[in-house]
Amino acid sequence: MFGAPAASRYDPFARLLHWLVVLLLIAQYIVAWTMPGIHRGTKPVGLIVVHLDLGAFIIAVMIVRVLWRIVRKEPGPAEGTPLTRGIAYLTHGLLYLLLIVQPVLGWVNASSRGWQVTLFGANLPSLAPTGSALGHALGDAHRLLAWVMLVLIGLHVAAALYHHFLLRDGVLRRMA
Ligand code: HEM
Ligand code: HEM
Repeated sequence: MFGAPAASRYDPFARLLHWLVVLLLIAQYIVAWTMPGIHRGTKPVGLIVVHLDLGAFIIAVMIVRVLWRIVRKEPGPAEGTPLTRGIAYLTHGLLYLLLIVQPVLGWVNASSRGWQVTLFGANLPSLAPTGSALGHALGDAHRLLAWVMLVLIGLHVAAALYHHFLLRDGVLRRMA
């Protein structure tokens, strides 16, 4: 049956935040993979600045999203077997975690390169001293986690489409 009862849908602001983050991530991955390669001594200009600004904005949106989820007590994953609900909880939890950890790792790496990260033009604090070896290593983790997150997103989208087209249980409408 299509169409979940209104009560079990995510509220409009939660839905707005979900789709805003989807759009921001699409833009962020495109920018990340088009920006010039980053090496020792690279100057933060052009698309690299766009990557840093978009990333800082994603952190800000995610902080609002996590707070909103706590305040509103979101419905959480839809009905299902304990196993599929467990998988949904796990995937959603990991996505929330990665959406915070991933940009923060990028920020630490940017700081270790001596780059100033800004949010709407306001300077954000440096998270690592310039030249920090840990900050450098976390740049590798940042590049790796981008792939981990993409795999999880792929699973999540596949599950959403499976619900919509095969199970036809209205799960997609909860977020649409
Ligand atoms: C969810 C948000 C983010 C995603 C999905 C993301 C994704 C990526 C990806 C895919 C790369 C690798 C690009 C390549 O292989 O050439 C990368 C590199 C990088 N990102 Fe991000 N990024 C995010 C947020 C941020 C933020 C917030 C910052 C800093 C404020 C940042 C700073 C960097 C830096 C400095 C690199 C180069 C790392 C290195 O090669 O050592 N990123 N990012
Ligand atoms: C960048 C890609 C995406 C990310 C990071 C993402 C992340 C999330 C997260 C964290 C939740 C849990 C929300 C909560 O309980 O507070 C969620 C729920 C949901 N997402 Fe996504 N999502 C993405 C793309 C999509 C797409 C493309 C679709 C549809 C094809 C989709 C459909 C849904 C649905 C239907 C739910 C509610 C599932 C339920 O609770 O029963 N998402 N998403």
